[in-house]
This record gives sequence, C-alpha cells and structure tokens, in this order.
Amino acid sequence: MRIVLGVAAGIAAYKACELLRLLTEAGHRVRVVPTPAALDFVGAATWAALSGQPVLTSPQESVHEVPHVRLGQEADLVIVAPATADLMARAAAGRSDDLLTATLLTARCPVIFAPAMHTEMWEHAATRANVATLRSRGCLVLDPASGRLTGPDSGPGRLPEPAELFSVVRRVLARGTAAMVPDLAGRTILVSAGGTREDLDPVRYLGNWSSGKQGYALARTAASRGATVTLVAANAELPDPAGARVIRVTSASQLRDAMLAEAGSADVIVMAAAVADFRPATRSPAKIKKSGGAPAPIELAENPDIVRDLVAARSRPGQLIVAFAAETGDVLANGRAKLTGKGCDLLVVNQVGNGLAFGTEDNEATVLGADGSQIKLPRAPKDEISDAIWDEVAARLG
Ligand code: C5P
Repeated sequence: MRIVLGVAAGIAAYKACELLRLLTEAGHRVRVVPTPAALDFVGAATWAALSGQPVLTSPQESVHEVPHVRLGQEADLVIVAPATADLMARAAAGRSDDLLTATLLTARCPVIFAPAMHTEMWEHAATRANVATLRSRGCLVLDPASGRLTGPDSGPGRLPEPAELFSVVRRVLARGTAAMVPDLAGRTILVSAGGTREDLDPVRYLGNWSSGKQGYALARTAASRGATVTLVAANAELPDPAGARVIRVTSASQLRDAMLAEAGSADVIVMAAAVADFRPATRSPAKIKKSGGAPAPIELAENPDIVRDLVAARSRPGQLIVAFAAETGDVLANGRAKLTGKGCDLLVVNQVGNGLAFGTEDNEATVLGADGSQIKLPRAPKDEISDAIWDEVAARLG
C-alpha cells in the first residue's frame, strides 16, 4: 500500500522513525512528508534513509512532479504522527502552506491524525474545535496517550507507542473503504480488560490467567473506528491502546467502582475482564506465616456481579451492554442462559480448553444477541474478532 507519513514539528517526531520502520518492514511504500519546522527535530536524511524515498516539505520542490497533488491522490492512507496543535489548526482551516497540508487537501483516502502536545494545548478550546472539525469531515483523530510529556509534567498529550499506531494503520487499511467513515465516531465506549486480583495478605493474591489481550484489542479497534474509548484495565501488562484513555485497577471492587463511575456517559459497555467471582473474606494485615500444623483454610466471600449491576444502573437510553463468557460443555446453551440471567444485550461466548482464549493471539467465539441472533466468529486474531463484535454493536446502535 502507498502511505503518506506526515510529521509535524513536535519532539515526538523521533517516535515516528520507529513507526516508519514498522510500515516499511510490513511492505508498504511510505513517503514521509515533514513540515519544514519538523526538520528541526528529525532531519530529512533520516527520513530519506529509513523510507528509501525522496523527502520534500514544500510544493515548490520538484514542481515538475506536482507533488502537492500527486502524493495525496495516490495515497491509500495518510497518517500524521505527531500531529501538533498548529498542524491540526491549519488542516482544519483548509490551508495549504506546506506540502503536508496541501497533501491533506488532495487526499481522498482514510486520514489519521495522532496528536501529541502539552495537555494545556490539547485541552484548549481552539484545539478542541479543530479536532471536532477534522472528525466531522471523517478524519480519524486519535486521543493522545497519558503519561510523561516533554519536561517534568505529565498528563494527556503523549504520542501513543509506534507499535500501537502501526496496529491502527493495519486495522484502517484492513477495513478499506469502510474506514472512510469511522462508524463509531461520536460514540463513547467503555471496555474492561484483564483479570482482577484479590488480596489475601500484603504479598499474596487470588488471580486468574487473563492477559487482557482481547479487551485491549476491543479498545484499540474501537478507537480506530472513531469511538471515544475508556479502558478499565485490571493488571494487564500491555501498552496503552492508541486513542484510548486507560484507568488502571487491581481488584473486582475497584473495577466495579470504575465501571459504574464511567457507565453513565457510555453508549456501549463491554465487560471483557475476567472478574474474580470470589475474594478472601478477610485480608490479613500481616503476611500469613507457616505455623507447623495444617494451614488455616481460606474463607471466601462472593463478589458482586458487575454486569448485573451495570444492567441495573443503566440510565442512558439505548445503552448497549456486552458481556463475555468462557464456557465448557454445551457452550451455546450455557451462553444463552447466562445472557438471559445477566440481562445484557450481547454475550460473546467461547469454549474453554481448546488452546484459545487466555493469553493467545487468536480467539474464536459466538456472539449471542438478546434478540435471538447467533453469529459465529471463526478463529482469527483478536483484533479481527473485535472488529466483528463492533460490527454487531454498530448495527444495533442504528
Ligand atoms: O458469570 P461469568 O463469570 O461466567 O460471566 C462472565 C461475564 O461476566 C464477563 O463479561 C465478566 O466480565 C462478567 N463478570 C462480572 N462480575 C463478576 C464476574 C463476571 O461482571 N463478578
């Protein structure tokens, strides 16, 4: 595929070098189009060497090739990473004062902006308005990641990790022309992922083997379809999905609090987390010691069912609630009973113990609907399973 990698003048330009490598190693032909000021951060020689292509910044260079028209017309995808406040302001205003903004005006393919800037600039009303304008035109503007910014401050404004941006590019290209209209744009989506840990004493916990990969894939793919995504992550050691706000929790009770606090503004809630059904009835304040005799039994208390609580608390009209279930035996009958019991709209059910689900890259599942529908999703990478789940969700959002 032909990709234009636009680079605006931000310190995160150095991360775009890694993104460029990932794109070229995947076989894409990438033309890097930095803004003139971006060359103060990473020079043209680096971009030319890594892309194997000429690097232009102005429509006045190589005029005989009419690059300001050709690059945009020929591209299958444009991604601007990092996108600064100034670059997005110029793009929103339709200016064409350098080759990158001119290319944005001539591109008829999916366009992704990955903003990176200080929190104050990201939150400024002018930037909010420019982002809204770009989104209303069908561009995918990812929310920046949170964390350490240039200098000592931290907050939302970081460029997501290159591998995560690469995943977004892959998903958008895989969706082809469907990606021209991000179908979850304007939707607020809340996803839980990972596995909860229940304290036994200061050094031990009861936990489970959930890696968080399916929930992270759901967050990543929803963001790449334009949704505003909040991911409540329980103990997953994975990079933040590009475009998602991440809230970290440990126990089932913290997960429940975070989900209920965010649920009121969510159009869709997906409970992909593996929540402990039980917790130790008491948390020992000191490490439990060997006593020489038989160890004391661990008494368990039952955790509340978060999906049920979310269904009971549902106040937003049209809100969709999706649960997951890992089942054995008659998977579909068990899944159907669970769907009814929990009162959710969709239940994604998979069979335990066939080498899939926990920690694997692939998954296979059946999506059961409260409306009686039943969609089988054959074995596929978790990103593809996620996109198929979002297809079902998008169809129900109307
Ligand atoms: O009942 P079971 O644990 O099989 O249901 C799985 C689904 O319910 C998942 O979506 C999981 O996130 C959710 N769950 C929950 N609260 C619990 C246990 C599971 O919301 N205490």
